[in-house]
Amino acid sequence: MIKKIQNIIDKKNKSKIVCLTAYSKNIAKILDKYCDIVLVGDSMANVLYGLKDTHKISMKNIIQHSKSVKMGIIKSLLVVDMPKGTYPNIETAKKNAKQIIKITKCDAVKIESNNKNFNIITELVKSNIPVMGHIGYTPQFKKKFKIEGNTVKKAKKLLKEALQIEKAGAFCIVLECLAPIASQLISKKLKIPTIGIGSSNYCDGQILVTDDMLGLSGFYPKFVKKYASLNRIIEKAVKKYTSEVKLVKFPTRKYFLNE
Ligand code: KIV
Repeated sequence: MIKKIQNIIDKKNKSKIVCLTAYSKNIAKILDKYCDIVLVGDSMANVLYGLKDTHKISMKNIIQHSKSVKMGIIKSLLVVDMPKGTYPNIETAKKNAKQIIKITKCDAVKIESNNKNFNIITELVKSNIPVMGHIGYTPQFKKKFKIEGNTVKKAKKLLKEALQIEKAGAFCIVLECLAPIASQLISKKLKIPTIGIGSSNYCDGQILVTDDMLGLSGFYPKFVKKYASLNRIIEKAVKKYTSEVKLVKFPTRKYFLNE
């Protein structure tokens, strides 16, 4: 097991794990100073490409953005989402995960659970490919967004799924949009860390889509705290630039190259 992965596991019950998404170098460079894990998520489908779901993200898309993100990363653990349809069976999953790791030099891949594909995780881990699991609202497999695990019975069902992912060898697991009773139960029972998104503060760590928390994406469900309104800052700058270009106030002599 690589040391960076063990360091993440060792944080369980000691210090909260900080994670965010990135799709490009400049953002990754900032996140790297603060995050334990940077995820190249297939949420790029909605956030960057304006698609209605994550299903059309290809190996080419994820590899291209991960190569860019890798350029900004020095210390964080870099995890890359395996796109929908790239892990339908053990052989294909191994081939694609190896390609992602070889080309992007990431540390681990993330796989969404369909409550059946535990053997894929087992085999990837056997091949020395570290895997992050993902349960709850899993956009590659579930059509409709809904809160998961909001009764004791449903929470126990999710716990069973999470325990199978842990048994398969995943080093941590994303809990997406779980009711607090479920995230608390799972975080308590699992030995590996849980990373929550919309899943309360019982998790061992938190992740958000960076563009959402920076106020860039226009997508602000209840669980997203907007830490900045970058859309407003960018618009202000672009408006000023537009006005200065039109009024020939930019570029002034200071920006000329022949003096
Ligand atoms: O694709 C993504 O960004 C994710 C996170 C929301 C966990 O899977």
